[in-house]
Amino acid sequence: MKIAVLVSGGGTNLQALIDAEARGDIRDGEICAVISSNPNAYALERAKHAFIPSYVLRRADYDSAERYGAALHELLTQLGAGLVVLAGFMTVLPESFCRDWSGKVINVHPSLIPSFCGEGFYGLRVHEAALAKGVQVTGATVHFVSEIVDGGAIILQKAVAVQPDDTPESLQKRVMREAEWELLPKAVSLFCQGRLHIAGARVTITN
Ligand code: GAR
Repeated sequence: MKIAVLVSGGGTNLQALIDAEARGDIRDGEICAVISSNPNAYALERAKHAFIPSYVLRRADYDSAERYGAALHELLTQLGAGLVVLAGFMTVLPESFCRDWSGKVINVHPSLIPSFCGEGFYGLRVHEAALAKGVQVTGATVHFVSEIVDGGAIILQKAVAVQPDDTPESLQKRVMREAEWELLPKAVSLFCQGRLHIAGARVTITN
């Protein structure tokens, strides 16, 4: 299974995938490309170090979300990607793209969905909102991407405790370390082995 990883920033989740593949923990899958919406993303350096071909597709270079989605569709088709992983990808994809690639796109989100998710909840903002609400437990979710932002079927979730002295930055780091970097490679491997099955809102995992 060829995997394309879409990024916009630091790329620590991309790194977790690269490291998992190197350890042999991505069964039946191979990262074939990294696509960034941001030409300055550090994730592009990580791709270079791992000898993974990378591409930059800036939303600002297209006059509509649909055209952006069409360009992405064309690139992914050319690459022969069977799985698209949104790993800190900060551009909302158009409905047409989500429909065409339904069941083949997964996203990692830094909260326990349905808390602190949807339009406007991304990156550090998610952790700011969790701290503002005073929750004692947060976490991460890996889910299929649907036309509804952060609304697709949930694949894996893991809870992470909030500490009394947490800042958004310290909480973000703990959620990444304790949940995201573990869940994302696991979900990718399950997908590549054909072990994830969507039934309505639910995902079942077979042996
Ligand atoms: C991660 O925490 C990821 O879950 C989040 O952005 C960060 C990217 O970090 N994604 C979202 O908020 C998407 N809604 P990274 O570039 O180091 O992987």
